Amino acid sequence: MALELVISVFVLLSVSSTSSFPIQESFISCLGAHSQNPIPFSISFYTPKNASFTSVFESTAQNLRYLSPSMPKPDFIFTPLEDSHVQAAVICAKILKVHMRVRSGGHDYEGLSYVSLIEKPFMVLDLAKLRAIHVDIEQNTAWIQAGATIGEVYYRISEKSQVHGFPAGICTSLGVGGHITGGAYGSMMRKYGLGADNVINARIVDADGKILDRAAMGEDLFWAIRGGGGGSFGIILWWQIKLVQVPPAVTVFTVTKTLEQDATNILYKWQQVAPNLDENLFIRVLIQVTNSSVAGKKTVSTSYNALFLGGADSLLQVMKRSFPELGLTKNDCLETSWIKSVVYMAGYPVTTPPEILLQGKSSGKIYFKAKSDFVRQVIPRVSLNSLWKRFLQEDGPLMIWNPYGGMMSKIPESSIPFPHRNGTLFKIQYLTAWFDGEQSMEKHMNWIRRFYYSMAPSASSFPREAYVNYRDLDLGMNQLNKTSFLWSRIWGSKYYKDNFIRLVKVKSKVDPSNFFRHEQSIPPLPIRKKNELDN
Ligand SMILES: Cc1cc2nc3c(=O)[nH]c(=O)nc-3n(C[C@H](O)[C@H](O)[C@H](O)COP(=O)(O)OP(=O)(O)OC[C@H]3O[C@@H](n4cnc5c(N)ncnc54)[C@H](O)[C@@H]3O)c2cc1C
Ligand SMILES: *[C@@H]1O[C@H](CO)[C@@H](O)[C@H](O)[C@H]1NC(C)=O
Ligand SMILES: *[C@@H]1O[C@H](CO)[C@@H](O)[C@H](O)[C@H]1NC(C)=O
Ligand SMILES: *[C@@H]1O[C@H](CO)[C@@H](O)[C@H](O)[C@H]1NC(C)=O
Ligand SMILES: *[C@@H]1O[C@H](CO)[C@@H](O)[C@H](O)[C@H]1NC(C)=O
Repeated sequence: MALELVISVFVLLSVSSTSSFPIQESFISCLGAHSQNPIPFSISFYTPKNASFTSVFESTAQNLRYLSPSMPKPDFIFTPLEDSHVQAAVICAKILKVHMRVRSGGHDYEGLSYVSLIEKPFMVLDLAKLRAIHVDIEQNTAWIQAGATIGEVYYRISEKSQVHGFPAGICTSLGVGGHITGGAYGSMMRKYGLGADNVINARIVDADGKILDRAAMGEDLFWAIRGGGGGSFGIILWWQIKLVQVPPAVTVFTVTKTLEQDATNILYKWQQVAPNLDENLFIRVLIQVTNSSVAGKKTVSTSYNALFLGGADSLLQVMKRSFPELGLTKNDCLETSWIKSVVYMAGYPVTTPPEILLQGKSSGKIYFKAKSDFVRQVIPRVSLNSLWKRFLQEDGPLMIWNPYGGMMSKIPESSIPFPHRNGTLFKIQYLTAWFDGEQSMEKHMNWIRRFYYSMAPSASSFPREAYVNYRDLDLGMNQLNKTSFLWSRIWGSKYYKDNFIRLVKVKSKVDPSNFFRHEQSIPPLPIRKKNELDN
C-alpha cells in the first residue's frame, strides 16, 4: 500500500517534470510574435510550475469558495505590463483557442474573473499591473487604468483637490475594470448617480485585438460597457471619468439600534424617508445578528451608516425635520474631509490615514454567498417581524439596505444598461459568510436560498431585479453548447430589464463568435434566431 503510493507519486512527479506544457509554450511564442514591444515573461507569465503561481492566482480573489482545491485552476496567468500586451493576449487566445478570463480587482462574487466552471483549458489575464491614474483638475476629468483600485482613484483625486471626488464603490479595494462595467454605486449615488453614469470615454481591446476609444467603438458599444457587466464586450484598458464636486467638509455617522431599542419601527420609518431625503444625505442600514444584553440571547442590530455632503449643523437640521426617530445627536457626528469620509465608510477606524487607500487592501478573503433585491414598496411592520425570525436562524448573516431616489430617479432606465432607477426605494444585499470551508457550505447556501425565496413578496417582480455586480449564478447560467437567447433572458432581464435586448444586439454585432464569454456573459444571437428580436 505504502509502496504503491510511493510509486504512483514517483510516476506522477516524473511525468510532470518531463512533460512539457504545450499550451503555455505555444502561448509564449505567440505573444512574442504578436506583441509590438518585447514582453518580459520572467515577471509576467506564471504556470503552475512557478513557485509564485498560487500567490498570484489567489492575490486579489475574494471568495474562498472559488479557491478551494476542487475548483478548476487556470493553465497559466499572464499579467500584462502595457496595453499592447493585452492586444497580443487576445490575438493569441483566439489563435490557440484558449479560453480567457479577465481580472482587474478580483472581487467578483462568483469568481468569474479567475475560475471557469464551463471550459478548459483556460487562462487568466490579470490586469493588476496596469494601474496608472492621471487626474486633470483643470478639465475636471481623469484617465484611470483598469487594474487601479477605486480607493487609489479617490486618493489621487484628493491629492490634487479637496473639493473634487468621484461617486463609485464604498469598498475601496474594488478594481475599476470590473467595478464600473457593472454600474458602481456608493455613498454619493443619490447626488451624482453611479460611477458608470460619470464615464465620458474609454479605451478597450475588442475581440479582434484592436484598441478602440469612444469615437472608434461607436455609441452602442460605449453604452454597453457602462453597466452591461464585465467580460462580455471587450477588455477595458482605461476609463475617462468626470469628477464631481464635494464640499471641503462632509459629515459621517453610524448609529446602531437593536430590536430592544425600537429597531423595527425605526427601520419602517427609514424605508419611507431615506429615498426621499435631501440628495446630499445617504443613509444605508447594515443589519446583523448580535448578542443581546440578555445573556445567551441573540438580537438583530441595525446600523445606520451615513455620509452627508455638508457640515454637522445642517445635517442635524435635516435629520430633525425628516427622521427624528433615529435620535441623531451632535456627538454621533464626525465632520471631516471627503477623502477621510471615504476611509470611514470603507470601515477603517476614523484615525486611519488616507494613505491606506494606496495599499489596495481588501477586507480579507472569506467563504460567502450573496444575493440582491430591489424594493419598490415599503415592507410592513408585520413582515419585518417575521423576517427577523428567519434572519436569526443563521450564524453570520448580513443585510445591507441601500437607499435610492435623488439622482438615481432622474436618470432614465435606458440611459446606460443599469436599469434600477425611478420607483426603486432601496436595494437589499443579502450575504452569509462562514469560516470552516466546505464543511458547512451546504447549510449556509441553503439558508440564503430559502431566505431569498421568502423575501419574494417584498421584492420587485416581473422581473425580480438583481444587481449585476452582485453576481449570482443561482439566477441562471450560460451553457456553451446551448447558447439559447431565450434561456439567458431569464437572468438577463433581472440584471438589465429591457436593456438586455439591446445588450444582445450589441454583442451580436461586436463579438458574434462569442470570444468574451463566461457563465453569465451576454450571449450573441444565433443568426437564425435574429427575428426573435425584431418585434
Ligand atoms: C467586499 C466587496 C465590497 C463591494 N462593494 C461594492 C460597492 O460598494 N459598490 C458596488 O457597486 N459594488 C461593490 N462590490 C461589487 C463589485 O462592484 C463587483 O464585484 C465588481 O465586479 C468588482 O470588480 P473587480 O474588477 O474588483 O472584479 P473582477 O473579479 O476582477 O471582475 C469582475 C467581472 O468583470 C470582468 N472584468 C474584470 N476586469 C475587466 C476589464 N478590464 N474589462 C472587462 N471586463 C473585466 C471579470 O471578468 C468579471 O466578470 C463589492 C464587492 C466586494 C467583494
Ligand atoms: C517560471 O518558471 C520558469 C522556468 O523555471 C522561469 O524561466 C520563469 O522566469 C518563471 N516565471 C516567473 C514569473 O517566476
Ligand atoms: C456572544 O455570546 C456567545 C455566548 O453566548 C459568545 O461565545 C460570543 O463570543 C459572543 N459574541 C460577541 C460578539 O460578544
Ligand atoms: C418617477 O415616478 C413617479 C411615479 O411613478 C413619477 O410621478 C415621477 O414623475 C417620476 N420621476 C421622474 C424623474 O421620472
Ligand atoms: C452540454 O453541456 C452540458 C453541461 O453544460 C454537458 O453536461 C453536456 O455533456 C454537453 N453536451 C454536449 C453535446 O457537449
